[in-house]
Amino acid sequence: MERKINIAIDGFSSCGKSTLAKSLAKKLKYRYVDTGAMYRAIGLYALENQLIDQQDQVVNEALIEHLKQVQVEFRVDPISHKSKVFLNGRSIGDQIRTIQIADLASQVSKLRQVRDKLQVLQRVFVQEKGVIMDGRDIGTVVMPQAELKIFMTADHEVRALRRFKELEERGKPISLDQVKQRQRKRDQDDVQRAEDPLIQAEDAIVLDNSFMSPEEQLNFVLDKVHALIEQ
Ligand code: DC
Repeated sequence: MERKINIAIDGFSSCGKSTLAKSLAKKLKYRYVDTGAMYRAIGLYALENQLIDQQDQVVNEALIEHLKQVQVEFRVDPISHKSKVFLNGRSIGDQIRTIQIADLASQVSKLRQVRDKLQVLQRVFVQEKGVIMDGRDIGTVVMPQAELKIFMTADHEVRALRRFKELEERGKPISLDQVKQRQRKRDQDDVQRAEDPLIQAEDAIVLDNSFMSPEEQLNFVLDKVHALIEQ
């Protein structure tokens, strides 16, 4: 049987991390773990339980008090390799893919207590080989021993336009300017936060996909995977 490795993909929001991770998982028959979806699930919990103030800020103390009763699960279907996130036993899908939940996820991800809780879940997946995990701290904190680490980046304008189109297709109207503004804020927050900020792992390979097709990105990473497997 072919040797399996673990792949960590980190990078800014709307860089195409999950698109790449999903196609890699399909091609290699690996498990894909979307850690951003877990932070989004906690953001959704805060929203649904009115743990947000009038300025759309998460009330941290209240959320921390609630954390014990928040159960996030990430299940991967072994046959389809599709994954689903469950919040207190309820499957959550598209409803975490909004800009509001993205903002809330970014806020809750600053809390050490939230990160500790989710990292415990994420580390369970790392015990096996053949895992592709994407997020912000995968190569640095969650899976520092991953054989392959990719740090994705892309031009700010290109990313904003991609995100705008995606939201438009989902019927979620927002202007391109708003997308750009919120993207800037989120990038800044992810990079500057005190707890596990987004930084490139020393041994990560940078993939700037501003002008690369999904297929080119897939082949770029597959070449690296095959080189490692054949070593
Ligand atoms: O990848 P995403 O856009 O779904 O992530 C949503 C937010 O969750 C992001 O702004 C930062 C946070 N996040 C994190 O702090 N660590 C991770 N491993 C994944 C996401």
